[in-house]
Amino acid sequence: MILNVNGSRHEVRTEARILLDVLREDLNLLGAKEGCGVGMCGACTVLVDGKPFSSCHLFAEQVVGKEIITIEGLSKDGKLHPVQQAFLEQGAFQCAYCTPGFVLTTVALLNENPSPSDDEIREYLSGNLCRCGSYQNILRAVKIAAGS
Ligand code: FES
Ligand code: FES
Repeated sequence: MILNVNGSRHEVRTEARILLDVLREDLNLLGAKEGCGVGMCGACTVLVDGKPFSSCHLFAEQVVGKEIITIEGLSKDGKLHPVQQAFLEQGAFQCAYCTPGFVLTTVALLNENPSPSDDEIREYLSGNLCRCGSYQNILRAVKIAAGS
């Protein structure tokens, strides 16, 4: 089957395989991380047609024909995406294991709602967990990326 990942088409074996495994093992896209493995932590988040999904909780066959964006696909022409830049500048991570998931979920949030309130940010990001407790800096980075 063909998967469309970060704007490129990839021939991969999708049958009965988890999307996270295909991304990491076949395409060497290591930004999406395995945390819980059961759809509870958001470390494996990718965008599917612009919406955040846990790639540990999707079969690769389910996303055939859809546009998948991983953290590796966000920067353009060597420049970080504004959300990545805001996370970097605000130090919105410690170990950074959760960061690709938080960044991608934030990108989806700001596409849907360019000026979210603090509560709307917390609600939208509630499926992403940070074991290091960087939540205050993450909130600040999201607000800065939103231009508020
Ligand atoms: S590893 Fe996928 S949600 Fe936790
Ligand atoms: S920065 Fe370590 S889990 Fe979030």
